[in-house]
Amino acid sequence: MKILMVCLGNICRSPLAEGVMRQLVAEAGLDWQVASAGTGNWHVSQPADKRSIAVARDFGYDISKQRAQQFNQEMFESFDHILVMDRNNLRDVLRISDHPEYRRKVMLFLPDELEVTDPYFDDQLFEPVFMQIEERCRQLIEEIKAKSEL
Ligand code: 4NP
Repeated sequence: MKILMVCLGNICRSPLAEGVMRQLVAEAGLDWQVASAGTGNWHVSQPADKRSIAVARDFGYDISKQRAQQFNQEMFESFDHILVMDRNNLRDVLRISDHPEYRRKVMLFLPDELEVTDPYFDDQLFEPVFMQIEERCRQLIEEIKAKSEL
């Protein structure tokens, strides 16, 4: 199983989702690959935002070695699930391709049409965003496991 987390900059939300998911997957003994990417190119090859690195560390996850990359068309082939943080990410990803075979791999990270708020301009948002991401990663492991066992 290969899972890609996507946000706009690939420095705040999706690096958290990548690092948390990778560690939870390892703890569950699953052989899944997890990566992340941004729809924008401003931060390519940079580490995650200091505030994301800090909140992850506070809760026991090390995301300091991850580096930002930009989402590209080949990622539709390489990944089984492409999980996007908000509707703008969804639009931007599907702008690259809306082929049905790719379209079915793409969904919002949160259920019920909810979005993960971009915390970039508000320091106070990093902890609640982290909590939301960690909780959802636990659920996603169960949901994806259940689907792949069908
Ligand atoms: P992210 O947050 O999409 O969660 O990584 C952002 C980080 C940087 C920018 C936008 C969003 N930016 O415009 O530089």
